[in-house]
Amino acid sequence: MPTSRRIETDLGNAVSSAIPELDRLREAAAGAPLYLVGGAVRDLLLGRAPENLDVAVEGDAVAVARRLEDDVVEHERFSTAETTLGAMEIDLTSTRTESYPAPGALPVVKPTSLAEDLARRDFTVNAIAWPLQGEPELIDPHSGQADLESGLLRVLHDRSFVDDPTRALRAARYAARLGLELEPQTAGLLRATDLGSVSAERRAAELLKLASEPAAARGLQLAAEWGLVRPRHGAAELLPAVDALLAQPPWGKVASRPRAMLVAALGPAGREAELATAGPSCPSEGVELARGARPEELVLARAMGGAWLDDYVREWRGVTLEIDGSDLISAGVPEGPAVGRGLDEALRRKLDGEISGRDEELRVALEAAEERGTRNGAPEDDDGVA
Ligand code: CTP
Repeated sequence: MPTSRRIETDLGNAVSSAIPELDRLREAAAGAPLYLVGGAVRDLLLGRAPENLDVAVEGDAVAVARRLEDDVVEHERFSTAETTLGAMEIDLTSTRTESYPAPGALPVVKPTSLAEDLARRDFTVNAIAWPLQGEPELIDPHSGQADLESGLLRVLHDRSFVDDPTRALRAARYAARLGLELEPQTAGLLRATDLGSVSAERRAAELLKLASEPAAARGLQLAAEWGLVRPRHGAAELLPAVDALLAQPPWGKVASRPRAMLVAALGPAGREAELATAGPSCPSEGVELARGARPEELVLARAMGGAWLDDYVREWRGVTLEIDGSDLISAGVPEGPAVGRGLDEALRRKLDGEISGRDEELRVALEAAEERGTRNGAPEDDDGVA
């Protein structure tokens, strides 16, 4: 294990290279003590580049942000401000305590010292600070670094999930992303967590964050194993299959990955099972089957084995006619269902390779539009849509 001095030298160097404009930040602090906190310290200790910077200010975080940049998003109520430092996003927060008026409610905040600010946080691995001025020394009152080295996710106190039940979903996110395990007492507290006291919006936002992780399949699986969400039937097989599928062209562009992962984990079930087992005998039949399917239904159906959907997504669904309704109307077809009938028939035959080029499309469309009386027994004014 590296010695403490060694860690501090390494971390000091890592901070300097992760924050090239550190001096400008120090200047903007105008003497207020600044600390790198939360995910940024955790990631640097793990040798990962932090995605954004969380900086705690013993003083007025909003004022520091304003001195740093003109473009600042301020949340006066929580004494926080978001801005940029060079190429990095930076969240500045006044050190504060949080009290929860009711389980799951948003906290009421009061200014306080760094020590108390660290004590209100979710997990020990997120409650480590690194001073950005003065003595370079890790501030780790809850032994987060030791937990990080042992691969453990541990809450700071027994009411942590009661205060903020969304922390249970955050736990799944960190466990999946960083390969951490729940420390036994934390696991017990987590299993007793009731997400029901959290608003549907906050729950949905947290689930979306979980589903947006590279390790979303694992994270959603953990959330189900821990009893935080009710998985859909077959989720355990579907999640890795959807994940693998979305990593391959063209599927990565068919649906939003987080949404597809959420539907794979939680439902609601749609037409995917029907599409997966279908076996269209020609392209036009496939297009008819897949018509109106949501992107996630297509992805799930393919992940469930519907191999014909490769052709549908790559080729069939992009096939369009060179003509449109106005061509038929100019040729004398009255506006109404006959136009749609003509275009549908031309597209069907083009998809199945029976015709090509504008002239043939127009000929076939006009023939189909002019067919009088009934089609499949339907009267003229029925456009065939059920
Ligand atoms: N935090 C908390 N309880 C929450 C949300 C956040 O205690 N419900 C604290 C944690 O200490 C966390 C910090 O606020 O480290 C910043 O929150 P956030 O930006 O959401 O998390 P990060 O740690 O930066 O994690 P990520 O890498 O996912 O952004």
